[in-house]
Amino acid sequence: MKEKTESSAKYRAAGLGAALLGGAVAISFIQPSASAKAQRRIPPLKTAFTGKFLIGAAVSRRILRGEDQASEAMVRTHFNTFTAENSMKPSNVQPSEGRFTFDEGDRLVRMAQQSGAVVVGHTLVWHQQTPDWFFQGPNGQPVSRELALARLRKHISTVVGHYRGRVKQWDVVNEAIADEQGQYLRQTPWLKAIGEEYIAEAFRAAHKADPGAILIYNDYNIERAYKRPKTLRLLKSLLAQKVPIHAVGIQGHWRLDGLNPAELEDSIRQFAALGLKVMITELDIGVLPTRYQGADISAREALTPEINPYTAGLPEAVARQHAERYREVFEIFLRHRQHIGRVTFWGVHDGGSWLNNFPVRGRTDYPLLFDRQGQPKPAYFAALKAARDNR
Ligand code: XIL
Repeated sequence: MKEKTESSAKYRAAGLGAALLGGAVAISFIQPSASAKAQRRIPPLKTAFTGKFLIGAAVSRRILRGEDQASEAMVRTHFNTFTAENSMKPSNVQPSEGRFTFDEGDRLVRMAQQSGAVVVGHTLVWHQQTPDWFFQGPNGQPVSRELALARLRKHISTVVGHYRGRVKQWDVVNEAIADEQGQYLRQTPWLKAIGEEYIAEAFRAAHKADPGAILIYNDYNIERAYKRPKTLRLLKSLLAQKVPIHAVGIQGHWRLDGLNPAELEDSIRQFAALGLKVMITELDIGVLPTRYQGADISAREALTPEINPYTAGLPEAVARQHAERYREVFEIFLRHRQHIGRVTFWGVHDGGSWLNNFPVRGRTDYPLLFDRQGQPKPAYFAALKAARDNR
């Protein structure tokens, strides 16, 4: 289980391969031959977790455009549920009013059909990656409540309707809860235009368009003490109104420091006690020092050498700590497997992770189970061992 370190020359080469992806610079430089070899020798993750929960990955736009076949092969090998990392967000699906583009999402659905995987739609209602036109009224006026609600319903009925029966789970509303103390809901354009009911309305519209789909409320840090009470409040209020909601998504953008396993386990228990399934929707464990502890994609920090310490490779001691973190969280997921529907990683291998550019652009992070050559890391073996120890 020795972690290979990566040469600085390769990292310099990676800089040249930077490509603009969904508004962020993503770096990917997997070597297909190396990954193909590794894939033959190690058990697929989805096999290890059969009978426990689905195991998934976010699939990038590059993969869906056929530009990253090595990662695509890994997705097909290891995962049985696929989430579109960016392709189904409002900015991609309805860039201007009434112009819907489904090409990349359709490709994801085909890929999943060929692999026998479950497709997760991400996401219908969010304050990020959503074009401004949604919130503009005629003549530069702010949008009226009525028009905003009509656009919300139209977007959802068209998108969910298009994928009816093929996308089995939807992140209906993303990140609606405020991070600030003393504030319940995030002050988003949706909240301002429609009021609190935008959340319930979104779920109702999604259910109407596909009554068979599992509908999820998805957010980050909701397992943490500062955000959990507000999340319980929202979920309880939706359930009391008989809103069709079936699951809560804990994103799981974690770091080596700052994750509290006991708190996480308690949160899973409390969410499950409401009668909801719990999904781990965007799992990654970053290893870099970062002041910001959330996943608000507008957060930015400046790049300095101190906060980018592993450009020449990940020290073995850190790789072990990282594996130990994964072991801990997988032990928890497995203990609560009757309530956990799936565990989805936010990416396939370290080179393609969004954390290389968040909240600091141009760093070298190591958050996933596979390294930049597609090789399994100690974290992969830790997850595998957890599955085997908890048969
Ligand atoms: C991220 C993608 O990974 C990036 O490629 C993109 O530039 C920004 O969004 N929470 C979410 C995801 O719900 O949609 C975000 O994905 C990460 C945080």
